Amino acid sequence: MNIYELIRRKRDRGRLAPAELAELVAGYARGRVPDYQMAAWLMAVFFRGMNADETAALTEAMMKSGDVFDLSGVAGPKVDKHSTGGVGDKVSLILAPLAAACGVVVPMVSGRSLGHTGGTLDKLESIPGFRTGLSPEEFRRNLEQVGVSMMGQTERLCPADRKMYALRDVTATVDSVPLIAASIMSKKLAEGIDGLVLDVKTGTGAFMSRLPQARRLARVMMGIGNRMGRKVVAVITGMWEPLGRSVGNALEVVESIEALKGNWPMDLEEVTLALGEEMLLLAERAGTRAQARRLLLRALSTGAALDRFRRLVKAQGGDPAVVDDYGLLPAARARVEVKAQAAGHVRSIDALQVGLLGVELGVGRAKLGDRVDPAAGFVFRHKVGDRVEAGGVLVEVHARSRARAAAVTERLQQAIVVGRTAPRTGGRVVARLARP
Ligand code: URA
Repeated sequence: MNIYELIRRKRDRGRLAPAELAELVAGYARGRVPDYQMAAWLMAVFFRGMNADETAALTEAMMKSGDVFDLSGVAGPKVDKHSTGGVGDKVSLILAPLAAACGVVVPMVSGRSLGHTGGTLDKLESIPGFRTGLSPEEFRRNLEQVGVSMMGQTERLCPADRKMYALRDVTATVDSVPLIAASIMSKKLAEGIDGLVLDVKTGTGAFMSRLPQARRLARVMMGIGNRMGRKVVAVITGMWEPLGRSVGNALEVVESIEALKGNWPMDLEEVTLALGEEMLLLAERAGTRAQARRLLLRALSTGAALDRFRRLVKAQGGDPAVVDDYGLLPAARARVEVKAQAAGHVRSIDALQVGLLGVELGVGRAKLGDRVDPAAGFVFRHKVGDRVEAGGVLVEVHARSRARAAAVTERLQQAIVVGRTAPRTGGRVVARLARP
């Protein structure tokens, strides 16, 4: 294959055939195509884009570069949820066991935190003993026995994506809609799912900060899924302020368990239930949204969802006693409060800035391979719209030392705007997209 010709054609606005894309991706995954040629091709795609056929063919080639789970032998509808990433987004920890308790089989391959956004694997691994590095056999066994399994991407799952993503990261080619869509969908389709609910974030703390971009990404991902015979729907949700009250790995585990016990802030409940409704509809466990909501609320109020979480933790080597004793989770040595300087209403909390300050504390990673601090993070005592008195605690910083906490407090204060009047606040669910 003449790689030079593929680069030139894309540079000149031409189209690539599925067989050409398959050869390019397989060649790169096996080391036959050098980084410099793949980088040039990615940059050509960044500027020229790809049509729907090319994007689907690229996705398929990336998916087929490694193992593809065959879950056809696992009884029940297999439906996953994927979020494009945000700050304080612990929805997967709540929704995966909740949907499983409603009869959906949830095979979930998740990611780690990178940049300002958090990662499900880092949150789960703050539970003592919890293993996310499962073999395909363990992954399948959990699905059969617990109805939910949560693991990380292995060496053998979409190796082309791992290599291409690392290259995009250093060549300024990450934020291209077809490349993001192919990267996400190749991993999700390799899970062996029947259906997928996408949570595409928009707002300051999101990958796609502007709504039209978020809609476009959602439509492209839905189109790929549908072309490959999977049912895919998308919900666009706001990421202007962190989701829920906590940002940080162990802190978000506590908030998730509390949510499963029915104690959750309104925004977290709204997003989780909206996505849960779509999962139950795709899995045909409910015929209408209202019916789906009733099933979800019943699984919460009867304790079935919490029980499913306990079983998931146990099946993956974790200590299920954390559900009743948060003292078993890592805790920060230093806690520092950031207080309101004047009375008023919280008008905004900049999610991006909170995420970046979290990286400084060790909540997330500046680059792949960095270690996270499972105990570090923030607990927001007041959310957007809340009234706060002068001297009232806005946010609690959890850190390894007082000095580390002190290093972020001033900027954290600046990220929270308190004004005299209450802001107009809408819901977090911006749009539901059902067809490509
Ligand atoms: N997440 C992914 O998995 N891939 C991208 O390209 C962007 C976000």
